[in-house]
Amino acid sequence: RTTAVILAGGTGQRVGLSIPKQLLKIAGKAVIEHTLTTFENADSIDDIIVLMAPGYVPDIEKIVAKAGFKKVSKIIEGGATRNETTERAISALGEGLAEGEDANVLFHDAVRPLLSQRVIDDCVTALERYQAVDVAIPSADTIIVTRTHGEDGEFITEIPDRSRLRRGQTPQAFKLSTIRRAYEVAAGDPNFQATDDCSVVLRYLPDVPIHVVAGDEYNMKVTQPVDVFIADKLFQLASTAAPEQVSEEAYRELLTGKTVVVFGG
Ligand code: CTP
Repeated sequence: RTTAVILAGGTGQRVGLSIPKQLLKIAGKAVIEHTLTTFENADSIDDIIVLMAPGYVPDIEKIVAKAGFKKVSKIIEGGATRNETTERAISALGEGLAEGEDANVLFHDAVRPLLSQRVIDDCVTALERYQAVDVAIPSADTIIVTRTHGEDGEFITEIPDRSRLRRGQTPQAFKLSTIRRAYEVAAGDPNFQATDDCSVVLRYLPDVPIHVVAGDEYNMKVTQPVDVFIADKLFQLASTAAPEQVSEEAYRELLTGKTVVVFGG
């Protein structure tokens, strides 16, 4: 059994609107509705649970009812941090599993509404061989490591070899027993701190290999105000074709603000 966990417990401080960014309408639908549609339509996904920012559960219930999503089996409140939200999801999972039976779980940021079916399928396929799977893309930017020296500001301490650097996206996929064990070990660490789930496995279950599946540039995270505009433009392209089918002409027309024309399909 494969469950998708949609992490929507954040409030989107950096986008800075009066509502959480996952409820913002882009291309005619709330960001999270786009995300849920993708998982609802994924053959490899059996059910979906949503972890929503406290106070906004009725909003998501309304969206789910109106869209008629059949796979959404639970809507619960998220925690104070992303990892606390994940922990709540883990507690809610596994009910109905027989003794010794395992399950697949994919954690996905609600605010990555342009996820492709290909990435979901690759994650589920990778779980046939691996207990932990991440999704990442190469970094076009050089990544620098810095340290802050008081009033003087930031200074470079390291520039890692770019060819080995990747930008982590989501989903992050696991065998339920593995991610549960990782969080159990982490619970014993008073200094526990993380911003994603693969780092919990990497740190607390160092013997578990974490396989990396290729993500794609479309699978952006709506994080800063400018991302709202970028996502809107990408939906104009995505609504007409898969990324690899978008013609050069379509890109050019998009940039000049004319209607998008696409070949292929
Ligand atoms: N998230 C969550 N629970 C939290 C914090 C974040 O489920 N307590 C989710 C967000 O809803 C989002 C994903 O994790 O879908 C990625 O996090 P991020 O982009 O940092 O979202 P926010 O925390 O909402 O943004 P900000 O840091 O700007 O407030």
